[in-house]
Amino acid sequence: MSAMEPLLRAIDVTKTYHMGSVAHPALRGVCIEICKGEFVAIVGPSGSGKSTLLHMLGGLDRPDTGDVQLEGKSISNLDENSQTLLRRRRIGFVFQKVHLLPMLKAIENVMVPMRLEGVEMNIAKPAAIAALNSVGMGDKQSNRPGELSGGEAQRVAIARALVMSPAILLADEPTGALDSVNSRIVIELFRSLVTELGQTLVIVTHDPSVAGAADRVIKMRDGLVVENGSNPNILKHAGKALREGT
Ligand SMILES: Nc1ncnc2c1ncn2[C@@H]1O[C@H](COP(=O)(O)OP(=O)(O)O)[C@@H](O)[C@H]1O
Ligand SMILES: [Mg+2]
Repeated sequence: MSAMEPLLRAIDVTKTYHMGSVAHPALRGVCIEICKGEFVAIVGPSGSGKSTLLHMLGGLDRPDTGDVQLEGKSISNLDENSQTLLRRRRIGFVFQKVHLLPMLKAIENVMVPMRLEGVEMNIAKPAAIAALNSVGMGDKQSNRPGELSGGEAQRVAIARALVMSPAILLADEPTGALDSVNSRIVIELFRSLVTELGQTLVIVTHDPSVAGAADRVIKMRDGLVVENGSNPNILKHAGKALREGT
């Protein structure tokens, strides 16, 4: 990968969902580029295709046409097994709903991706502790999900997404279920992962304060990118609501 080549790229991606005989075009030709170390927020109205795009970027789904490339290599045309391995090893996912395993302690939840890769306990355990420390949850490593607040559980889920040192972290409405105090903590955490650790991060969000923390904002409408620019430029055009949230 040359220095100028983007880390992740969507090239003219289209996706249409078919419900019976009705076609719902979700993405109608999306081109975006994400550079290493960037924090990008994807915003736009409900139904504009944000989650569909994020799924394509992470290899959770395949475009109908177009391509998604990680470090210059297509991830869209990999077979199922290679795509699963790539997701597990190179891409971290965080969702609005925290999918932690209720019977496992925080540290055991964070170790799951490493154990799936056959990483030995003596390596997985310190890596999980380091990941929990990086999200400020080192002292709650023995708690089970039921013994964590919503914000703490989301931070454990972020630690799990980070434990394999993914090339890119993708998050879909990660503050959507959190109160404002916990949202603020999680947003500051995301910001510091980018600024201090150089993590590349893409967040789909309705939350103006998440968008306000990003380096760049991509705005979607009806399956298309309608704005794409460094944050101050987008904020200038986005009106009162977005400004007030920052
Ligand atoms: N699994 C699905 N089956 C059918 N239609 C879907 C599916 N997922 C999304 N859609 C449709 O695709 C469009 C984009 O959805 P989505 O990507 O979830 O938007 P957003 O995340 O911006 O709210 C919407 O019209 C939605 O109804
Ligand atoms: Mg969505």
